[in-house]
Amino acid sequence: MLKVRGKLDYTAIIGPVQRRLFGALVEHMGRSVYTGIYEPGHKRADASGFRCDVLELVAELGTTIVRYPGGNFVSSYRWEDGAGPVEERPTRLDLAWHAIETNEFGLDEFMRWTQRAQVEPMMVLNLGTRGMPEALDLLEYANHPGGTTLSELRRGHGAPTPYGIRMWCLGNEMDGPWQVGHKTAREYGRIAAETARAMRMVDPKLELVACGSSGPAMPTFGTWETTVLEETYDLVDCISLHAYYEEIGGDLESFLASSVDLERAIKRVVTAADAVGAQRGDPREIAVAVDEWNVWYLSAFQSAEPRTEWSRAAPLCEEAYTAADAVVVGSLLIALLKHVDRVTSACLAQLVNVIAPIRTEPGGPAWRQTTFYPFALTASRAKGSVALIACEAPEMEVDKYGAVQVVDAVATIAETGHIAVFAVNRDTHEDVELEVDLGNLSASLCEVTVLSDADPHARNTRETPDRVVPGAGRGSVDGRQLTLTLPPVSWLVARLDVGSSFGTEGLLRVHSEGA
Ligand code: AHR
Repeated sequence: MLKVRGKLDYTAIIGPVQRRLFGALVEHMGRSVYTGIYEPGHKRADASGFRCDVLELVAELGTTIVRYPGGNFVSSYRWEDGAGPVEERPTRLDLAWHAIETNEFGLDEFMRWTQRAQVEPMMVLNLGTRGMPEALDLLEYANHPGGTTLSELRRGHGAPTPYGIRMWCLGNEMDGPWQVGHKTAREYGRIAAETARAMRMVDPKLELVACGSSGPAMPTFGTWETTVLEETYDLVDCISLHAYYEEIGGDLESFLASSVDLERAIKRVVTAADAVGAQRGDPREIAVAVDEWNVWYLSAFQSAEPRTEWSRAAPLCEEAYTAADAVVVGSLLIALLKHVDRVTSACLAQLVNVIAPIRTEPGGPAWRQTTFYPFALTASRAKGSVALIACEAPEMEVDKYGAVQVVDAVATIAETGHIAVFAVNRDTHEDVELEVDLGNLSASLCEVTVLSDADPHARNTRETPDRVVPGAGRGSVDGRQLTLTLPPVSWLVARLDVGSSFGTEGLLRVHSEGA
């Protein structure tokens, strides 16, 4: 048993829990849309063809914002193909995923789906094969109340109320040579700037996300952000960061330390952004939108034979996630919470079927993957403000990232007097006893929920959808000390009640008075 001491530091409040941290991506890729969220004729489909079993799981997952329509798909997409009468819509080649796109589902359906799912839309613009004029058209169609050709077209398509989309991504992964319309940083920066400038003439309050590099392993990572922000700094609110992780060659230890890499990547993006801000003498801070993150067995996908058939909504990247994958997803969420001062939105990529926490069978059931649980538990338990837990934990040496702490943890403090502690044990053999000093609060323990499995590679499947589920964990509170037991390769959330009389302000006051 490894012993780890931690201290909940009420004075180190990082920032409010951003509800947009619990976003996801719905892309026209594989079966994410077709037979994922949308399957007319399915016995659980509503009149619009939306699968209600999936909608129920999306609500349980706690998703708050959904990015659409891609991903790589967007970079050769024409938004108007997916608006208006379905029978008049064109069928086209989707170059990103070598697929046939029927456009049965498009912008109008997606907006109706977001209303049903009660999530905020995050719209991605095609800055690959298109540019500012088409972005302006889409903005006018979506958000202008009426009286213009495009806004009247939307009204004619059955949407009298403007969609009111606030958050817009200026392209997707434009530094990736795989991207249709791939560009250099300077080329992209200029197009993003002119698009952003024109969009702000329509509505200065839009929230715009410049496209960051497609990942920390890209040779362009860092310099891309600098160049793009030199062109766009005063015109955008956020820069995007994408990060995917996988267990390669049985190196479970490195995989379990993935969140260390995510934190380093966030710091590198923030450093690049702040350097541009400083150079310009602009005190405004650019936020980071981690608008694609997840576990993805990308090397297997990349080494597979490329598709030759042009197929329609064929399965793609339908990972069956393991218990270890879920622990990594939980630890990546801890990393995001630790950076809420700069990371103001994030999207798990993706939501359904394609590298997703929700799986469906065409004409059949929907079920929760292992990764569903840490996401849903974090989205529902993380409330109020994020506070650091400083841990004195032993280190382990991992091949990919060097020395990393065995345990990582963070807390949230809500005005209702509830504290949530999130923790991960990266050790593959040893239990960890985590003792957290709660300061001078007297707390009662409401819940300890742990996700782990004797077999870290156990999965949920259609036949065994509940093979890996969270269970009751071990914990206790003694005076000012919380003690939690974390099995090897586990993620855990504990909930404490410190009394409804203490708001966040109260907690801070009580702590400093008692210190
Ligand atoms: O989420 C899958 C793909 O990953 C997205 O289409 C792309 O943006 C990223 O490379």
